[in-house]
Amino acid sequence: MSKEQCPSPHIAARYGEIAKTVLVCGDPLRAKFIAENFLENAVCYSEIRGMYGFTGTYKGKRVSVQGHGMGIPSIGIYTYELFNFYDVERIIRIGTAGAISSDLNLGDMYFAMGACTDSNYGHQYGFPAQFAPVADYGLLEDAVRVARENGFPFQVGNIYSADVFYDESDRQMEWGRFGVKAVEMESSGLYINAAAAGKKALTICTISDQLVRREYATAEQRRSSFTNMMKVALEIA
Ligand code: HPA
Repeated sequence: MSKEQCPSPHIAARYGEIAKTVLVCGDPLRAKFIAENFLENAVCYSEIRGMYGFTGTYKGKRVSVQGHGMGIPSIGIYTYELFNFYDVERIIRIGTAGAISSDLNLGDMYFAMGACTDSNYGHQYGFPAQFAPVADYGLLEDAVRVARENGFPFQVGNIYSADVFYDESDRQMEWGRFGVKAVEMESSGLYINAAAAGKKALTICTISDQLVRREYATAEQRRSSFTNMMKVALEIA
């Protein structure tokens, strides 16, 4: 069934050209950078809308890396096609997030165990009550192990996947009261797609903005913490 839908509307790959594990990131140029600098023998399988996708190997493992754009509607499209048309089994999102808790520092990694949202994405399923989108426990456990082994600073917790980046209500900080420590714009949609398809997903974020203290990562902080995040994602892929 899935083979007939490849190439899909938004991904130009033929069936089989995408690995069973895909790293996804918002910025397609970052996907290209990862393919060129972290993977061996990377081949580009899609350039539709400039949303690059590549497949290569890492320590002999076949891995793909795909851009997903910004926000739940965009990651929703790419990850739906990966899971349902290309039979991808695992998607690991590597992204940035804003800290809404004072105990997260710039450059820390945050593994999103669960994802709250104000998005309507899940309404298509008509849940009889609220659904709690969560990460795959095995991927999360592996990420924690690799981060510990390497001494990388990280925390695990709930994330808020907002529909709005420029939040004029100024209410997103209120999630902190419920232990939600960071805000980004995609994980809830990713986790719902994974659950609906019976597949696995995890979001690994690096804190790029400390919203409580109004601190913002420098280019050097972004670069070094990005390398930590890549190491974790590729080791667990
Ligand atoms: N808000 C939403 N998404 C983000 C942020 C933010 O402050 N920082 C990085 N991704």
